[in-house]
Amino acid sequence: MTRNLTQTHALFQKAKQVIPYGVNSNFRYWGDEHTLVVTRGEGAYIWDADENQYIDYRLGFGPVILGHGYPPVVERVAAAIRDGTIFAWMTPLEIQVAERVARMTGVDKVRLCNTGTEATMHALRIARAYTGRERFIKFEGQYHGVHDYVLFSTASTPPGTMGSRRSPVNVQLSSGIPEGISHYVINLPFNDFERLEETVEARWPDLAAIMVEPLLGNVAGILPQPGWLEEIRELCDYHGIVLIFDEVKTGFRIANGGAQEYFGVQADLATYAKAMGNGFPIAAIGGKESVMMVIEPGKVAHAGTYVGNVVGTAAANATLELLETQPVIETIFQRGQKLMDGIDDILTRAGIPHRVIGLPPIFGLILGTEEEPTDFRAYLEGDAALYERLAMALIERGVMPDSDGREPWFLCYSHGEQEIAETLTAFEDAVKSVKRQT
Ligand SMILES: Cc1ncc(COP(=O)(O)O)c(C=O)c1O
Repeated sequence: MTRNLTQTHALFQKAKQVIPYGVNSNFRYWGDEHTLVVTRGEGAYIWDADENQYIDYRLGFGPVILGHGYPPVVERVAAAIRDGTIFAWMTPLEIQVAERVARMTGVDKVRLCNTGTEATMHALRIARAYTGRERFIKFEGQYHGVHDYVLFSTASTPPGTMGSRRSPVNVQLSSGIPEGISHYVINLPFNDFERLEETVEARWPDLAAIMVEPLLGNVAGILPQPGWLEEIRELCDYHGIVLIFDEVKTGFRIANGGAQEYFGVQADLATYAKAMGNGFPIAAIGGKESVMMVIEPGKVAHAGTYVGNVVGTAAANATLELLETQPVIETIFQRGQKLMDGIDDILTRAGIPHRVIGLPPIFGLILGTEEEPTDFRAYLEGDAALYERLAMALIERGVMPDSDGREPWFLCYSHGEQEIAETLTAFEDAVKSVKRQT
């Protein structure tokens, strides 16, 4: 079974002439043979330049919560931008979006951004300005964007490089980051209560923030252990540390109120992006009044030429309105659960050791073990090569998860019963073909 990728390959070669590695984000580079050029999307489907059709479970790395090219959103954006896109003044749309974010998530105050990277970068600055402290804790396997402070021990970290659990090493994921930056970042294993308590007790006078993805949205959706987020909340309260939930992947996806609602833990600051605009560029920082109000002209910076632009705000206003008025997340949970159960059943019948992990709107698989991973180190013990072979066999069959098992499967409102059934049929076939090869 081999797709025709003639046009795709030709376009990719053209892209490489002018764009480093032929892509505009390193994560989209899958090598000469497998990097796709996509020409369109509709609902749960995308098509490459050779008109091969795929049921899409990458959804642009998570933003598409309703469906590709979702008409009710596209029409609202098209109507809004006819009157201009940017004015360097407030617009009524910005107010509406901020009101919706506050109502849905329970935050007191909201500032808009364009991307998740901008949101986490500003959140760290706000936390530092609020506490007068400089360091922060993040957790191994968490990706918070591409600014210098957070490119340590992310989900791209190679196995065996993070040192011991007792004494984790910051692994820098890029050249070009000034040497001193690592000093400000402390990476700890997710779900490790003892390590967290010890570190906070020892270091709290320097700690401005604990930044946590409430579930590991960049490592197959690994869930917090019972009490984990509550423990972080308690430590932050006790030591005056700002708790930042990075909800770029969980926000407006696992509940209308994101992880704060789903897990019942309130952060001091939360960062949103992705699902907030169904694929249009829009992001936000929300938080408690006392913390957010340190933002002040001339004193604590938050800014951006494109912040609050009409394209993103019109998209967010329409997307959030649909989330508030239609059973979007509920439907995604039902269909996603069917898919997770179906995958579990197929792998069990095939005798492949595995666990299906995460929540239905954002879930993942670990192969080669029956152990439920509770952190990034444990996930790396799985059989990544087998996962990649399975994912590539699925892609050949018109079902598109990421080829890297760390990136979760995402569902959207447009994945209907039929797409789930077709995915499971393709999955069964892909598993058989992978087993034949081994
Ligand atoms: C949890 C999390 N935070 C932040 C980011 C960065 O967002 P962006 O790519 O919009 O800058 C990502 C991107 O995948 C993410 O998964």
